[in-house]
Amino acid sequence: MPPTLNSTPTPTPGHSVFKSPVRLPLIGPSILSGDFGRMEADCRPLMESGADYLHLDVMDGRFVPNLTMGPDMCRWMRKYFPDAALDVHLMVEEPERFVDAFIGAGATNLTFHVEVHKGAEAEKLADHIHKAGALAGLAVNPPTDVAPMLDVAGAFDMLLIMSVNPGFSGQAFIPSVLDKARRVKPLLRPDQRLEADGGVSPTTSPDCLAAGIDTLVSASAIFGKPAAERKGVMAALRGG
Ligand code: DX5
Ligand code: ZN
Repeated sequence: MPPTLNSTPTPTPGHSVFKSPVRLPLIGPSILSGDFGRMEADCRPLMESGADYLHLDVMDGRFVPNLTMGPDMCRWMRKYFPDAALDVHLMVEEPERFVDAFIGAGATNLTFHVEVHKGAEAEKLADHIHKAGALAGLAVNPPTDVAPMLDVAGAFDMLLIMSVNPGFSGQAFIPSVLDKARRVKPLLRPDQRLEADGGVSPTTSPDCLAAGIDTLVSASAIFGKPAAERKGVMAALRGG
């Protein structure tokens, strides 16, 4: 039977990891620091030893001064990790041009930036993402006021507090952004996640968790270590 306008969309895989987590905090390695020549092999041991999801950093060379990956990378990750939660972070000027392609490629969650869309526009794009069966996130950069995020937080499944200026892995954590986490946290329902991204390491994660962050992205702190040490890093991020 063809879908009707009122039919419930088929959820993309991995929803429950974010919507009804069996443990918190969630740990999401960012594949930006993974080995682009052997990404599946680099990520599989992580998924088998404590990673809760994978974070895909999409950069367009306009919103941020770097170029990274598109929907095809998402499709390959979905092929090799059919049940995983894939968290796609859209650091792009016009996310509405790309969300359908990423949902078709198996993304679980699509996060765009409040610097790009706020207010009714942001809610409209979240609604579009939901109707297509995916989860929606909203991110805020370090210099940006958190107020526009507070205005529309209820429409999103994920609120992402950037703890570096986006564009590259391996930058230093900006502790002052945790004030934003403290302001967002009281507004959230149990099925909404509060994520930090940038400079998250075993040294900085305790402050994140204390500020109410329950979902941690980490690239260089995980992939920068030899493979044998990565399980220990993820355990340390979680709080030991
Ligand atoms: C930054 C990206 C991050 C980045 C994090 O622009 O959004 O996800 O990969 O890298 P680390 O953990 O090395 O700061
Ligand atoms: Zn990211």
